[in-house]
Amino acid sequence: MAVVGAGGWGKNLVRNFAAAPGARLVWCCDLNEAILSRLAPQLPGTRMTTRVEEVLASPDVDAVAIATDAPTHHLMARQALEAGKHVYVEKPLTLEARTSRELIRLAEERGKQLMVGHLLLFHPAVEKIESLLGSGELGDIYYMYTQRLNLGVVRKDESAWWSLAPHDVSVILHLFGTEPGTVSARGESYLQPGVQDVVFVNLHFPDRRMAQIHVSWLDPHKMRKMTIVGTKKMVVFDDMEAAEKIKIYDKGADVSPDYASYNEAITLRQGDIYLPRVDMTEPLSRECRHFIECVRENRRPKTGGEDGLRVVRVLEAAQQSIEEGGRPVTLEEPRGPARRGRKDP
Ligand SMILES: NC(=O)c1ccc[n+]([C@@H]2O[C@H](COP(=O)([O-])OP(=O)(O)OC[C@H]3O[C@@H](n4cnc5c(N)ncnc54)[C@H](O)[C@@H]3O)[C@@H](O)[C@H]2O)c1
Repeated sequence: MAVVGAGGWGKNLVRNFAAAPGARLVWCCDLNEAILSRLAPQLPGTRMTTRVEEVLASPDVDAVAIATDAPTHHLMARQALEAGKHVYVEKPLTLEARTSRELIRLAEERGKQLMVGHLLLFHPAVEKIESLLGSGELGDIYYMYTQRLNLGVVRKDESAWWSLAPHDVSVILHLFGTEPGTVSARGESYLQPGVQDVVFVNLHFPDRRMAQIHVSWLDPHKMRKMTIVGTKKMVVFDDMEAAEKIKIYDKGADVSPDYASYNEAITLRQGDIYLPRVDMTEPLSRECRHFIECVRENRRPKTGGEDGLRVVRVLEAAQQSIEEGGRPVTLEEPRGPARRGRKDP
């Protein structure tokens, strides 16, 4: 394995890939030599370089994990696939659906795995919610909403939407099992021109299910929360809680078909609240191990290129809606030319 981009997040990939069974971390690559000097003493068997070409030319590298900044994902991943490597890319896969499709095609042509780092799909709490939906305990989803808020980290190349929302979008698409029909979004740039700090997005699905996403790096709260309202029960996943990450609310409203008046028709149910046990394994460790297993066993990843593309399509549609004053954008609409700063090379 090689990891390219060992900055704020990439150093976590380095730690996990170095410790994962079934792989050996043979290269770490970053443009910043200070980062490499800090890593080198902890990784005696790993070579350090600032030149990605050196990594891609190495015959002992089967797979490359890319955690450089998002605008470089497309080019980096393309070069790695063209060099015959399996590729793991941090989210978002790329900044345009067009370039995501190109990577998927390339991976297929070369017979290589392409995986995107949709971390939350490896979170035991999300897997628990999946199993609650699968067993029918929650019923069907009426709607859900997510809040990913904090003061910082303020980025320059990516808006809060592109930086934070891929996590929420990936979970919503996974739990709903389908793509939204329309996406409408409002966002504002208060700190830097053209880089939205706060974004509110509504996804509307053809079967009347809805999801709302609120992301911001200009907020007094530190929140990473998802609320899912089902036809039978409701569930809250609060990733800021140290242990009690999931609460299941046996609450709901039953509508009787045989009623004399509207007052009698709807019965509210205020049942118990309970906390299921959730495995506390680090999601990133599970994600890295999954990638290695997929490479070794030639299996399609849980979060493959197609999943990355689906998320990018929603990200793009919302960006278009923001730029058009909140107009609902259908996913099938052809996208206009990519806006300045968001075009993939
Ligand atoms: N899954 C998650 O929860 C999560 C969290 C944070 C960031 N991320 C993703 O990880 C990626 C990196 O984010 P970050 O916060 O670590 O950014 P960062 O700026 O801290 O790190 C990026 C690193 O990439 C290096 N780099 C850039 N171009 C390079 C090149 N051509 N060759 C070698 N190295 C190069 C930079 O020197 C820097 O050290 C982004 O895609 C981001 O969306 C994911």
